[in-house]
Amino acid sequence: MSEEVFLQRTETCGSLRASDEGKRVILNGWVHRDRNHGALHFINLRDHYGLTQVVVDDDASAELSAAAAALKLEYCIAVEGIVRKRPDSMINPDMETGEIEVKAEKIQILSQCDVLPFMIDEETNSKEDFRLKYRFLDLRSFGMQKRIKLRHEIVKAIREYFYKTDFMEIETPTLIRSTPEGARDFLVPSRIYQGKFFALPQSPQLYKQLLMVSGMDKYFQIARCYRDEDPRGDRQLEFTQLDVEMSFVKRDDVLSLMEDLMGEVFKKVQNVELPKKFVRLAYNDALNTYGCDKPDLRFGIELHDAASFAANSTFSLFTDTLKAGGHVKYLVAPKTEGVDYTRKYITALEDAAKVYGAKGMAWMKVQEGKLTGGVSKYFAENEAEVIKETGAKEGDLICFVAHEDWKKCCNSLGAVRSKLGADLGLLSDSYAFCWIVDFPLFEYNEEEGHWEAAHHMFSMPQEEYLDTLESDPGSVKGDLYDLVLNGYELASGSIRIHDIELQKRIFRICNFPDDVAQERFGFLLDAFKFSPPPHGGIAPGIDRLCMIMSKVNTIREVIAFPKNTAAMSPMDNCPETVEPKQLEELGLSIVKKEEK
Ligand code: AMO
Repeated sequence: MSEEVFLQRTETCGSLRASDEGKRVILNGWVHRDRNHGALHFINLRDHYGLTQVVVDDDASAELSAAAAALKLEYCIAVEGIVRKRPDSMINPDMETGEIEVKAEKIQILSQCDVLPFMIDEETNSKEDFRLKYRFLDLRSFGMQKRIKLRHEIVKAIREYFYKTDFMEIETPTLIRSTPEGARDFLVPSRIYQGKFFALPQSPQLYKQLLMVSGMDKYFQIARCYRDEDPRGDRQLEFTQLDVEMSFVKRDDVLSLMEDLMGEVFKKVQNVELPKKFVRLAYNDALNTYGCDKPDLRFGIELHDAASFAANSTFSLFTDTLKAGGHVKYLVAPKTEGVDYTRKYITALEDAAKVYGAKGMAWMKVQEGKLTGGVSKYFAENEAEVIKETGAKEGDLICFVAHEDWKKCCNSLGAVRSKLGADLGLLSDSYAFCWIVDFPLFEYNEEEGHWEAAHHMFSMPQEEYLDTLESDPGSVKGDLYDLVLNGYELASGSIRIHDIELQKRIFRICNFPDDVAQERFGFLLDAFKFSPPPHGGIAPGIDRLCMIMSKVNTIREVIAFPKNTAAMSPMDNCPETVEPKQLEELGLSIVKKEEK
């Protein structure tokens, strides 16, 4: 920019309308499109708020024409001029400012732009890593601007909701003690205490419980969380939770609060009316009916038990699995226009099932009122029974998974259901929330040979299982709940243990004997000696909420500066090595792989 005084905007590029005709204005923004027709020169000027067409007319001074001719895409400029109505034939109904244009009188270049790596558009179709390398430019696109704005609106609506209540917003530390919580911790070496480490919190879980011991009653925080796990579509190394904890509550208090909050957020942000209460499904029913604990309820294809008619077939895989106490489940994929249940497509469904442990997927079709293809020949004797029992209609495809393990059987067929939902065009723009309740408290870790918490170790077992915790951990149900939206786990929470002895029992079952538990969680156990209140909470993932409300399928699209799928940032190229002096100060040395 020259020494000229910066022409500061009087309006934004999204604000001018026909009623502003004749007004002298100054706009600041970026050259979005530049069409130089010789006598007439059109510039689409863009800022955060929109686009305005600027025209350099054929009566422009030589100085103005030269300034316009010097412009290149994405130059940052100021334009001073007069608003005028466009002729009727030139009105652009797709542009909010489409009724007007600004006749330029002065153009000032505020800063120049290098050759662009990609065009700034609604969305760019460049490779994601390239977008992430130039994220500051990618964020200029209307798509990214819209999503980041939506995220802001969502967080604002959440805060507004809580500010009307008794909840207090309290910050908890991000340099904490490493405590096992499910994922791997990110560690931060201490300079002052060499050889010792802080960890970044996987969530504020223990601190929010301590706040309840402190009598804070109702807490919330928009909290950054850090987990050293492989990133994927709905996971990042660092992400944001709405973290909530309340004292003297039971499960339904937490569920009602979330239903109310989501209702308000969706209404405010997108004017969508949600049901006052969300469907509740017990974990076992969710698995049996939808094949997973985060079912997409926007469509109805359901899983069923095939035992009654599979036992009468001559298909030994089914009959043997059933005799051995295993499971055979099926679903009916409805005949759908534009989708052919070809061998190739059926193989793709089978591949989806195999990811979850199925060895294969059996199938048959209904054609001309008869079962055909796949395993139909084994049902020759009871064809009518199968057609009646499954309710399959002409052109439908029946898919089966047999497995000795109930969960693997459900999950595998659940994966087929999910793929069908997407491929058959059943994923509408609507929002289908549900609660999953009555989760198992423990899961067996085959690799390490011990039980561990299915959620985390601070969740309360349901009362009826208190006597059988140790003798039959696998059957224990917890006071846990997940909020599911359109097939994603949006939030998780539980009523917590507030009894020190019960907490120690849970630690022991999870392979933390008393001395180890004291060493790792001493501060929580110590706090629990001082009259903790009954309490419970929940934490919705803000990134996932924004992703679903933005109708995109990765959380990277709703995070300003995310890490890529390889867990690094192509823009600032981190993680990166550090100066030897920095390592020295921390008392660290790097062991090279070959030296290990
Ligand atoms: P949980 O670990 O289930 O529970 O996390 C709660 C919610 O946080 C979001 N989430 C993530 N989002 C993006 N990237 C990730 N890597 C990631 N991991 C989790 C999800 C998830 O439902 N302290 C408990 C909550 C509680 O019990 O109150 C907790 O963190 O939306």
